[in-house]
Amino acid sequence: MSVAVKNQNETPTRSPVAQDTVLVLDFGSQYSQLIARRVREAKVYCELVPGSIDVEEIRRRNPRGLIFSGGPASVYDDRAPHPDPRVYALGIPILGICYGMQLLAHDLGGDVAPASRREYGHAALTVDSPAGLFTKLPRELDVWMSHADVITRPPEGFQSIAHSINSPCAAFAGPGGRFGIQFHPEVAHTPLGRDILRNFLFEVCGCAGTWEPQSFIDMAVADVRARVGRGKVICALSGGVDSAVAATLVHQAIGDQLTCVFVDNGLLRRQEADRVIEVMSRQRHITLRRVDASDRFLAALAGVTDPEEKRRRIGATFIRVFEEIARELGDIDFLAQGTLYPDVIESTSHDTTNAQTIKTHHNVGGLPPDLRFTLIEPLRYLFKDEVRQVGLALGLPEDMVWRQPFPGPGLAIRILGEVTRERLDTLRAADWIVIDEIKRSGLYRSVWQSFAILTPLSSVGVMGDGRTYANVVAVRIVQSDDGMTADWARVPYDVLAAMSSRIVNEVPGVNRVVYDISSKPPSTIEWE
Ligand code: XMP
Repeated sequence: MSVAVKNQNETPTRSPVAQDTVLVLDFGSQYSQLIARRVREAKVYCELVPGSIDVEEIRRRNPRGLIFSGGPASVYDDRAPHPDPRVYALGIPILGICYGMQLLAHDLGGDVAPASRREYGHAALTVDSPAGLFTKLPRELDVWMSHADVITRPPEGFQSIAHSINSPCAAFAGPGGRFGIQFHPEVAHTPLGRDILRNFLFEVCGCAGTWEPQSFIDMAVADVRARVGRGKVICALSGGVDSAVAATLVHQAIGDQLTCVFVDNGLLRRQEADRVIEVMSRQRHITLRRVDASDRFLAALAGVTDPEEKRRRIGATFIRVFEEIARELGDIDFLAQGTLYPDVIESTSHDTTNAQTIKTHHNVGGLPPDLRFTLIEPLRYLFKDEVRQVGLALGLPEDMVWRQPFPGPGLAIRILGEVTRERLDTLRAADWIVIDEIKRSGLYRSVWQSFAILTPLSSVGVMGDGRTYANVVAVRIVQSDDGMTADWARVPYDVLAAMSSRIVNEVPGVNRVVYDISSKPPSTIEWE
């Protein structure tokens, strides 16, 4: 038997569309996701869809407004992406951002031409006509631009409503609530960008701004009930917020038809497994199977030092253990997973050709592609911060909801060299102190991750009257928005001093602590 999804192409969990939806048509900008986030921050439900989306699909979703993202192309390129031309006849307000504005200009009969020089960075925008997009905003705005083409003539019926030194038409407005802006309101470098987007959503599209965690929960619970019927669902808990929130939602919908499985791989941090059992089983009364598989994982890792090989073996062992449990449980129809919107967007994004495998993250806990379960992914339309809000609204405890990211292969990729029970104990003790001290300092939530690494080095030390020759532990604390890039955190020396002193005093076999001051890139967050 093999454990996997029944049909990856099957219609996914219905998008939890409430009253107001705005669609962001993605034309390849690196900021497209950010636009969707900004819209949701304004409490308007928003989805990112391909720029080529069929107009019938747009009609079916009945959006209040459309946003055309920026993108790297020039509208005159042969292969430049364009929206379905029928989109302009829908009568739905449109905001075109950068390339999106140029699309509006070009497709509706205006002129776009290469700028005399590329405009990149901060620019001073002067608003000439505030109605609509610039309502209640200052006449002079600091905005962030990045474009090589400019609008030389707006389409018939459109008017320039703002200019900058290099762009005589830096924003335009046309009939039917159609607007274009040459700058990027979604980035932090445009300080009043959120207000401009809010004006589009509320003044132009007439959205109500009622998108709340509870509206999502109600829709998701109803949806899971409708899909599952009397079926049985299995869900693997990892200890992380995503699977915990997904399981809690599914449990709210179908109660004991859900069985959660927690595979203790022996690679977790101190008290982590117990906390999952405490919260999910004792507090939430979710049917939960805990499987202690640490011996099997350690056996699979014996003698392995290569990081990718560690990941492969952990992934393969996980699948085998999970399969066995599923077989014991008998007739299971659905597999619930805590897949988030960024993963969905990433896996459907058009440009994955250049993506290189730096580390095979997504293989761990991943499932082979032959068929057995139908997937339930109640969080597939949420961003991480929204998952946290939903978790809190569902009553999950703060420490679980705000847990820092923790890699699927766990401590195995933080022990350089072979993973043994003894080395795991050493790392676990050191890691506990790092977390304890960062929590004590009040920085736990403001840093992305904070943890210890057990290096393969021994160094000379002195303790009492004696010489020691013992392990070197590294401490890694990073700031990041999404884990893709990161910088080492400038935490106060006092915090580092407390960590270091406690680690060498409390953890047997460690006599030296070093702080990792590398950024990503060129380093990565994990050491393996
Ligand atoms: P790196 O080390 O690539 O990590 O800078 C980026 C983020 O991903 C996490 N990470 C993993 N997560 N399986 C996971 O589920 C993995 O194999 C894995 N490797 C790294 C890492 O903790 C950081 O948040």
